[in-house]
Amino acid sequence: MSNNLCGGTQMPFRPGRVDAIEAGKTTGVPAPETDLEETLLFFERAGFDKVDAIGLTACGHTMGSVHHGGFPEAVDESFVTPNNTNGGSNFDTTRGVFDPNVLGEYLNGTGTKGGPLVNSYNDTMNSDKRLYESDKNATMRTLFAQGTGFLATCAELMGRAINTVPTAVQLSEPITVMPVKPVNVTYDFSGDGKLMLSGKIRILTPAGSSPPQSLTLRMSDDETELEPEVEIGSSVFGRSGGEYGTTTYFPFSLSGPAIQNATSFSVQAPESREQAFQTHSQVFVVPSLTVLSGTALNVTVADCQKSSCEDLTIRISAPITQRGTLAPKMSEMDMVLSGVKQERRVCTMCEGQVVLPDVPTGLVTIEAFMEGKLVDTLLIDGGQAGW
Ligand code: HEM
Repeated sequence: MSNNLCGGTQMPFRPGRVDAIEAGKTTGVPAPETDLEETLLFFERAGFDKVDAIGLTACGHTMGSVHHGGFPEAVDESFVTPNNTNGGSNFDTTRGVFDPNVLGEYLNGTGTKGGPLVNSYNDTMNSDKRLYESDKNATMRTLFAQGTGFLATCAELMGRAINTVPTAVQLSEPITVMPVKPVNVTYDFSGDGKLMLSGKIRILTPAGSSPPQSLTLRMSDDETELEPEVEIGSSVFGRSGGEYGTTTYFPFSLSGPAIQNATSFSVQAPESREQAFQTHSQVFVVPSLTVLSGTALNVTVADCQKSSCEDLTIRISAPITQRGTLAPKMSEMDMVLSGVKQERRVCTMCEGQVVLPDVPTGLVTIEAFMEGKLVDTLLIDGGQAGW
């Protein structure tokens, strides 16, 4: 995320990591005073040779600073000023941009000349200098010759770093962009008990072209023209020369015979290919009867195919704060459904409750399985950040 937001090359993201709950015995990062041999050993243990180690460190050190506050042995007190109270000394002149500047400034002695771990007043702390010079600057020169291609090298090296996982962990294929994506498209009952289908279709428009002014949604034999929301966004997949530009949302709410018993709907923008999506009107989590209040989650699932509530399993995934990191822990639990309180139309209402370990920090995912097969997903309570 940092790489992308600061202008780096898009890095494919493969999901499936597990949280480390304690420090590894032989992993970790070198300190600025660590000698070259041991520094290279740290990298080698993580699967990186000397060329990789130089590249990866230069990639990291195109961003940010070394601070007198944390590293007084590397950065002297003269860096502390009223506007720089922590005494930050920048690695390159473009501290907040992922670019190749650190390479040129180091090799040509311009700008920050490679930064605080090259030019520290205390040579013991010059770990970048020791590393960069360890092959007589050959790697730094090769990287510099790549120009902005350096960003792709960084995406590859950092990708290898984040995709290094314990042997038992199996990462999935990279998550790819969906230019047309249904967002929380879900069945529900209206106040007077009618079946409804509502949600939004999110459209990512290729960079440089304007978003569609309408969409056609087809379901059974019905066609509905959708209008975009006035508010638009700009896609994170559009930064730094990415493929996409504007993000537009097309909300809808449908009722009537066309949505009953439907198993799919399709979406088409003018002059674009029609795309079909599956839906499941027979078993669904009922949004208006599913409530999260603090840590108490009450879920209602409508079962309209005359099976019993016991045939359904519900999986809850909730992000919960964990100590020592900004990243929430995904807390997963199964919910047992029972208690038929009411019937709507031909559907049986199945209910269940769980108490989450803490108040969730964002979206809670509720998945309904019928005989082990996922039949519906509802995302609730996006919280402050919306996700
Ligand atoms: C020889 C190996 C390395 C050493 C000894 C080292 C050392 C350091 C030190 C002492 C700081 C200053 C921290 C502070 O004052 O807040 C720093 C900052 C930083 N390092 Fe490294 N580093 C190494 C490799 C890497 C690698 C491989 C990456 C990522 C690919 C990386 C990314 C960063 C970033 C982004 C910062 C800026 C943090 C900020 O501004 O808050 N470093 N590094």
